[in-house]
Amino acid sequence: MAQDLGLRVWDPVNNMKVLVVGSGGREHALCWKIAKSKMVDEVLCAPGNAGTALVARNVALQATDVERILAVVRRENVGLVVIGPETSLDVGLADTLREAKVPVFGPGIKGARLESSKVYSKDLMERHRIPTASSRTFDRSGAAKGYLENCDTWPQVVKADGLAAGKGVYVCQDLEEGRSAVDAIMEEKRHGSSGTRILVEEFMEGQEASVFAIIDGRTILILETVQDHKQVGEGNKGPNTGGMGVLSPMGEINTRLHRQIEQRVLIPTVHAMRQEGIDFHGVLFVGLMMTEGGPRVVEYNVRFGDPETQALVRRWKSDIVPVLLACAQGELEQVSAPEWDGRPCVGVVAAAGGYPDEYRKGDLISGLRQAEEVDDVVVFHAGTAEKDGEIVTAGGRVLCITAMGTDVDAARANAYEAYDKIRWEDKFARRDIGKVVVAEAPKEASAHVDES
Ligand code: AMP
Ligand code: GLY
Repeated sequence: MAQDLGLRVWDPVNNMKVLVVGSGGREHALCWKIAKSKMVDEVLCAPGNAGTALVARNVALQATDVERILAVVRRENVGLVVIGPETSLDVGLADTLREAKVPVFGPGIKGARLESSKVYSKDLMERHRIPTASSRTFDRSGAAKGYLENCDTWPQVVKADGLAAGKGVYVCQDLEEGRSAVDAIMEEKRHGSSGTRILVEEFMEGQEASVFAIIDGRTILILETVQDHKQVGEGNKGPNTGGMGVLSPMGEINTRLHRQIEQRVLIPTVHAMRQEGIDFHGVLFVGLMMTEGGPRVVEYNVRFGDPETQALVRRWKSDIVPVLLACAQGELEQVSAPEWDGRPCVGVVAAAGGYPDEYRKGDLISGLRQAEEVDDVVVFHAGTAEKDGEIVTAGGRVLCITAMGTDVDAARANAYEAYDKIRWEDKFARRDIGKVVVAEAPKEASAHVDES
């Protein structure tokens, strides 16, 4: 009818195209969830991977190519852009899209600095009295090593200032390890220009937790908890990675601790952002250490976690798009809170041999279909590509096998049963995902709570 009259109906809300930017497991998970929305007609992913191609239309663009992404958004009448990686935020993709009046989920460059510069975020926390580890900043390796030589408490934590895909943090047990961390970052330039400055930080004792909050500048919507497993080896041994597996929810976070996190960390952080002129529309992902004195910030991220998102979207029962769109438009207070599946979700990352160091690419992956036949399993692709009609490895973290279950043990059993059906040369995973449950505030924390 409309076409007969020479008219075109474009209903941006109920017939919407959504573009997800990025190419990892997080982006596959977002595409998978967004594609289920009643509001969405089509999902595009730039550039995506072999998994996103199953639920979205991949667009061959680099995730940091701001001009070309804007051109696609205009050409395709995209109604919402969801930005996955920090690197895209750090080049100002969100600012450019917002200037073009495109609804975008993800902060601009100013907000992205909370993650892209640990020196900046540490200064911000200190200025606004947000609890965190005390630290010193250095721009010369000699001065950093001199400082370490005078340290009489160990471990010390040495951190590259800039983005390093989760690998720029070295927990050093003694002076020798401290010196080699400084050399790796500043002399060998293992993380490139991200290591021009470093922080040497007090080691915080305690259990770790991550909190995700969707923020539109005013309203803070706290999501379910997810526990990452950062180290490459079982029992949390070995070097840090982008994340080797997830569990959601992460055991009991008692109400008191929840309140502490909200009052001492989230609200002061959003308040600080406003005072610093950061108009934040996206997700703030705070890494916390539950110390004897209460929760303290380990780091800020300004985007969804990977692989945390894979577990979050499995448990997120209601439509995600109204929340992402309302956040982009500054109307978060008007949407209903998400409904969550009460069952736990375990996500096991299948990685390529050698990761987080050098690893091979191009190995044929088999058994994906059989893996997804296991109860309650969804396999999200991260480092995969399609080659001659087959799926091959194309990254260090290759897949994230997510499984739900009536309890954590059942979810773990499903996840590992599916993992064992997948094959390629040199595949490996941690076998203890979901076992190292981190949960409550240390008892002493209650005694220190300032209830005022
Ligand atoms: P980040 O990339 O800053 O989250 O650091 C990676 C990991 O290093 C964290 O998840 C912690 O396990 C550890 N870490 C970082 N900073 C500290 C600290 N000040 N004290 C203890 N552990 C830390
Ligand atoms: N899994 C940790 C991160 O996304 O930074």
